Amino acid sequence: MALPTKNPTETKAWKQLQKHFEAVKDVHMKDLFAQDKNRANKMTIKWEDFYLDFSKNRITDETLKHLLQLAEEVGLKDAIKSQFSGEIINETEGRAVLHTALRAPKSSKFIVDGENVMPEVYAVKQKIESFTNEVLKGKRKGFTGKAFTDVVNIGIGGSDLGPAMVVEALQFYKNDLTTHFVSNVDGDHVNEVIKKLNPETTLFVIVSKTFTTQETLSNANTLKEWFLKSANEDAIAKHFVAVSTNIESVKNFGIDENNVFPMWDWVGGRFSLWSAVGLTISLAVGYSNFDSLLKGANKMDNHFENEDFDSNIPVILALISVWYNNFFHAESEAIIPYSQYLNQFATYLQQGIMESNGKSVDRKGNPIDYQTGTIIWGEPGTNSQHAFFQLIHQGTKLIPADFIGFVNALHGNQDHQDKLISNFLAQTEALLNGKTETEVVKENTAPNIVPFKVFKGNKPTNTLFINTLSPESLGKLIAMYEHKIFVQGIIWNIFSYDQFGVELGKQLASKILKEFSGTVNNAHDSSTSNLLNHYKNLS
Ligand code: F6P
Repeated sequence: MALPTKNPTETKAWKQLQKHFEAVKDVHMKDLFAQDKNRANKMTIKWEDFYLDFSKNRITDETLKHLLQLAEEVGLKDAIKSQFSGEIINETEGRAVLHTALRAPKSSKFIVDGENVMPEVYAVKQKIESFTNEVLKGKRKGFTGKAFTDVVNIGIGGSDLGPAMVVEALQFYKNDLTTHFVSNVDGDHVNEVIKKLNPETTLFVIVSKTFTTQETLSNANTLKEWFLKSANEDAIAKHFVAVSTNIESVKNFGIDENNVFPMWDWVGGRFSLWSAVGLTISLAVGYSNFDSLLKGANKMDNHFENEDFDSNIPVILALISVWYNNFFHAESEAIIPYSQYLNQFATYLQQGIMESNGKSVDRKGNPIDYQTGTIIWGEPGTNSQHAFFQLIHQGTKLIPADFIGFVNALHGNQDHQDKLISNFLAQTEALLNGKTETEVVKENTAPNIVPFKVFKGNKPTNTLFINTLSPESLGKLIAMYEHKIFVQGIIWNIFSYDQFGVELGKQLASKILKEFSGTVNNAHDSSTSNLLNHYKNLS
């Protein structure tokens, strides 16, 4: 069954939301809390080690009722079934979307083209496990017989951001292997990494679903050339492995067939860290931690698939986000983890969210006249408090924010943890309440300064409190956002799993590259021609 193609703005719920918005748009959340002492309890979902409080949003019971009705009217229930049952919901690329299969138990069934993919999924997991153990136990050695000390992940986009984010997030669980990530085609990136490497003890993991990506192939070739200055061709089989769907091209690169970890076209790049794309994660934290990450994601999958919408974490988050995006016309959302370990989390989600839902044509191929994908940005607290929080508190833009915190500190330093969490709680309270003129005056503020110190408040936040940052809870957290992306794509009536928008720039770049060594094509606009000539003249 194809995905429904309902224009959300033509639903009854949307029209009711529009009317309702006019009535509540100026209501202050402070008043909503004052009117209903049970608000926080009602607007909290407790699930496993997750505590999601969404009460600090500009919503009422009625808003939620209409939003849930919207989910029904656009056919979200059937869409979820279609995704989980392996239907071709990535219609523009003719593919199923089954990253959920990668973290499902062995006994599950996910059928693609009439075949259950689970035996293959588990064969690859088995390969990841044995490879990881061989490297970590020093059984797999480099060309001079030494154990590996360093791993370089070579990939970009989904073949880099997920593994890099997770390896950093799980640093506490990390072993002695030093991991490096090379992604940018900027040669300074790879050369800075090379400075830290010893060819005898470095393992290279080339990750590219297509094995055609310019950045990844350039970096892989540069690293291979560098490696071959110290070793002969035979040593490549010991030091280079690849993760790809394009086995032929991997072999042509010179990689031994046994060192290829397959993946499948029913796994999108930005949803692929659960596959062999996560090999570097497994090497960095050990296979059992990698497996726990997958198990956590699977628990969130079950929650999303089976829970009623009014207590379904990804569904509620998605609906609230649609409310701000399409009715308040908020353009962006901030993700603020109160954990330095999640330093790369917002960057990772930028690809997941913006590459998926940055679309302006509906599922029938017609241009859309309402807003879709939100702009995602963010940095960990408390650093971000000293950087961009001023604008969230007192700027003119409405920026809904997700605050993510962990009850327990991994290193157990309670003094730091209490300070961190007091900031985590204080910021959402300040964003909710603001500060009135009367309060500012009471602080003996000079009258001419009073207006500058008033905070309107009424700035929406979700607070997600998780017990501890562990491989399992991280898996749940990532999967939560994956499902939020899906729900929003369904509501906006767009295809979330293609990314044709990134192709044009790639095609033009390859044309321009040729012009550096030949004549400049006159078909360029005058600005591009001038810039191109400027580079040619000076480089
Ligand atoms: O830039 C687009 C993109 O196709 C992403 O979707 C993908 O994650 C990235 O490039 C890398 O692609 P590959 O894994 O095929 O090298």
